[in-house]
Amino acid sequence: MSVNRPLPHDAARLHVTGQARYVDDIPVPRDCLHLAFGLSEIAAGHITSMDLEAVRNAPGVISVLTAEDLPAENDVSPAPFWHEEMLSTGEIHYLGQPLFVVAAESHLAARKAARLGKIEYDERKPVLSIDEAMAANWRIEEDPRVYSKGNPDAAIAQAETIIEGSMEIGGQEHFYLEGQAALALPQEGSDMVVHCSTQHPTEIQHKVAEGLGVPMHSVRVEVRRMGGGFGGKESQGNALAVSCAVMARATGRACKMRYDRDDDMVITGKRHDFRIDYRVGVDAEGRIKGITFEQFCRCGWSADLSLPVADRAMLHADNAYNLPHARVVSHRLRTNTQSATAYRGFGGPQGMLGIERVLDHIAHALGRDPLEVRRLNFYADAQDGDVASANGAPARQVTHYGMEVDDFILGGLVAELEKSADYAARRKAVAAWNAANPILKKGIALSPVKFGISFTLTHLNQAGALVHVYNDGSIHLNHGGTEMGQGLFQKVAQVAAARFGVGTERVKITATDTGKVPNTSATAASSGSDLNGMAVKAACDEIRGRLAEFLAERFQTDPALVRFVDGMVHVGAETLPFDQVVGEAYLARISLSATGFYKTPKIRWDRIAGEGRPFFYFAYGAAVTEVVIDTLTGENRILRVDILHDAGASLNPALDIGQVEGGYVQGAGWLTTEELVWNDKGRLTTHAPSTYKIPACSDRPDVFNVALRDGTNREETIYRSKAVGEPPFMLGISALMALSDAVAACGPNYPDLDAPATPERILAAVARARA
Ligand code: MTE
Ligand code: MOS
Repeated sequence: MSVNRPLPHDAARLHVTGQARYVDDIPVPRDCLHLAFGLSEIAAGHITSMDLEAVRNAPGVISVLTAEDLPAENDVSPAPFWHEEMLSTGEIHYLGQPLFVVAAESHLAARKAARLGKIEYDERKPVLSIDEAMAANWRIEEDPRVYSKGNPDAAIAQAETIIEGSMEIGGQEHFYLEGQAALALPQEGSDMVVHCSTQHPTEIQHKVAEGLGVPMHSVRVEVRRMGGGFGGKESQGNALAVSCAVMARATGRACKMRYDRDDDMVITGKRHDFRIDYRVGVDAEGRIKGITFEQFCRCGWSADLSLPVADRAMLHADNAYNLPHARVVSHRLRTNTQSATAYRGFGGPQGMLGIERVLDHIAHALGRDPLEVRRLNFYADAQDGDVASANGAPARQVTHYGMEVDDFILGGLVAELEKSADYAARRKAVAAWNAANPILKKGIALSPVKFGISFTLTHLNQAGALVHVYNDGSIHLNHGGTEMGQGLFQKVAQVAAARFGVGTERVKITATDTGKVPNTSATAASSGSDLNGMAVKAACDEIRGRLAEFLAERFQTDPALVRFVDGMVHVGAETLPFDQVVGEAYLARISLSATGFYKTPKIRWDRIAGEGRPFFYFAYGAAVTEVVIDTLTGENRILRVDILHDAGASLNPALDIGQVEGGYVQGAGWLTTEELVWNDKGRLTTHAPSTYKIPACSDRPDVFNVALRDGTNREETIYRSKAVGEPPFMLGISALMALSDAVAACGPNYPDLDAPATPERILAAVARARA
């Protein structure tokens, strides 16, 4: 069968030979215009005058539009309750905010002209930091959200030891290799075709329709692939697509826009930075009795996706640990910075890092092995795959938001990893090495991941598909998911091939297209293959059912006995090639096209009460990281990483291992080298690869052992697989924990290592540990 097989990414050859087509590679009409935004030079205040004469007169410029020139809505917010101006009407919210849009004969001409605006401002002191926003009580959501369980204050007060602390967690630039890009092609009447590098074609369609003042049926959006999205293309492409469409309408010409890397970093939102304050009461062994978290989430100037991101941070504040009494408070703070947005893990990584930091702190305070303390606090493993109904099963275990954890496997998974990574012996070796080496110090840490799968906005958990079988037996596949490198298209093609019992070479993967499958959700929350795989299965099974009925009637047998295997169709004693069956079904006037639809069962969620079952299931994994630091410079390296990850019955182990490797490295990058710095004027000073350092090939661990755990999803997902896009990102937390372990070897005090653990922060932590 074509599922559970390590097939290469469908476009791997095209990627490496440069033939894969991205938005900027699509051939355009000769008179295509190129767009660029003029950007605000201040972070907060008001425009007092805007003189665009020089922009209009610059070489190659065809048109310049300001907010006043827009034909309809000037709102690119993905949040229905928020108005996010595409072009400023006067108010300035952040440094880099688009003020006007230029169309010129070339990309360079547009960019040069966009800098010639003479803007005068009435400047205000910007609100930049979490502390400033708290002091001003400036928020995206007025009330702090609170999710809780039991009576944490009493439980903490009665505990043997109370530990308190606070952790700063930096944001992260997506650094997708292909920057944001859109192309609008005007059609007859008021119709528009838009190609866009987006995870959310329906949102682009919706926003372009509003921006043009036309119904959604007048706009068709097509996406073949992105060169990476990582959450940064869920909402941040709206402004480019709407600008292109509006300018195409105004000029009658095709319009294209792509951000230069610096502009991309200055204009678009990033991962939310957080501060998390914690207070925990533990017993002598380190069992958590009660815990409180206060999460401060820096959202930037606009709502964007901040509320669900901050919610997910709260939902992951327990990670793998059964917290008997817990309270999580979340503040969604507004600042004069880029509007922070979705980024792999969607707030989950920040929430999870909070509790991992607490476990690290507890172990240090009690002088115990951090893994032992973690294990003491784990939820209990599900037994025989069914905790709830089995006799003598452990007591019902629920999260701080009322969801039963009935599929927990980390006890067993961690034990397996501990063995394969030789954790205990290596921990001893690290201690011995540290005793002998005064300058270089090593550290090792194991950290687990439990990540909830489903959109917390319940209605988003739906998907559609469109499948055609042509009368030569070839198959045209379409669904609402988008391809950003994660391998979704190949996995779903494997599903389609498996349903018809044919090879994937028979299946043509086609671009996501709002004209083929409508009303789609963003490809996000790691749910792409869960949702679209099921929708495609439904469509294929519809056609397969028709073929089976046709054959059963012809051969006088039961349709249920018709089987599709290895390119052949078996009907009783007869065996016919798939393409022959299809050809004959066509002649018999059988419809060979079907749509499919899927909605995730069992989920319900009240985000205000903080109660329900927001997730269909959890995905699990664990990582052991070993590092070395130089205590004179703070420089550090990851020496070895061992990962065991749960992808259920993997649809494609090769692609899934790729997701685990990439996720880990991206997660470790977030917590080590990737640092965003704004100056006191609100200018992002790390706005290019020269100043913002993502992991390079040379930062890849020397030893990198990645394995998928054999297993199946106990819920009925597509072929019992599990989502794998985001969970491995959080395995990178083990890198920060290992660094903390190395710093702790320098002296008696807890290192209090914030993220990202840059060499400067490591040096400061070494000094704290020794003090
Ligand atoms: N992998 C690659 N190569 N490129 C990406 O942009 N995005 C991640 C993850 N893995 C991403 C990736 C994010 S943020 C998500 S939500 C999932 O892929 C989305 O795809 P899926 O739902 O098909 O897993
Ligand atoms: Mo992923 S952050 O859900 O796009």
